[in-house]
Amino acid sequence: MEVVPLASVEEVARLGADVVEAAVRGGAGVLGLATGSTPLPTYRELIGRHLDGIGPSYDGVRCFTLDEYVGLPAGHPESYRATIARELTDPLGIPADRVHGPDPDPAGLPTAGERYEAALRAAGGVDVQVLGIGSDGHLAFNEPGSSLASLTRLKTLTEETRRDNARFFGSLDEVPRHVLTQGLGTILRSRHLLLLATGPGKAAALAAAVEGPLTASCPASVLQLHPHVTVLCDPSAAAGLERRDHYREVYAAKPAWQGL
Ligand code: PGA
Repeated sequence: MEVVPLASVEEVARLGADVVEAAVRGGAGVLGLATGSTPLPTYRELIGRHLDGIGPSYDGVRCFTLDEYVGLPAGHPESYRATIARELTDPLGIPADRVHGPDPDPAGLPTAGERYEAALRAAGGVDVQVLGIGSDGHLAFNEPGSSLASLTRLKTLTEETRRDNARFFGSLDEVPRHVLTQGLGTILRSRHLLLLATGPGKAAALAAAVEGPLTASCPASVLQLHPHVTVLCDPSAAAGLERRDHYREVYAAKPAWQGL
């Protein structure tokens, strides 16, 4: 795992955008997209470069979201389908039929996980997966206790996550209890994982994920099993990392040819 402690949220956004753009320029055809607040500065950076005409071509790129709420009316602005279109894919000019997410239609829930896994496989798998981390260590909506080998399925959110996400809704009561989420085993199949962590609320979870034991009690610790993980974090999110000085030295001494 490559952990890169950076000086600011803006620097996380710039490097995050560099990683995504380098992959697209290098032929990556499938992007995995996280929602939530953390990736937004990176997405704005990508959009800004695209509008300035200095981004890569997104022609042919397909996108898969990590997860989706269950129980929201179709087209709800906080559904992840609507969110990712608004925050990234529409401004990048990626048409809706190339942006995929788990299908929360109540009638199809029993098969929604399998169908999403099949769609991911048919697309050839995710080249770069953007990830955030929950304050409880969740990855996508895999809450503590999730199988480290899990695949896309229906999950129930913890109270902590519902409270964290209540800011996007009118009240806590409006936050759905159920979600469809890629499993931890699904996420591990992506070829490159890009974890973004910013803000003091992520410090404990990030330290547990990166330096703690591999355990379902901290789902993001499953990243330790993946051969190509890049963690970009700001000073407040990095505050709990015991080896952060070492990570800085490693990054400073990194051969230019390696890239991220
Ligand atoms: P956030 O959520 O980026 O809104 O903090 C991250 C997550 O829940 O995975």
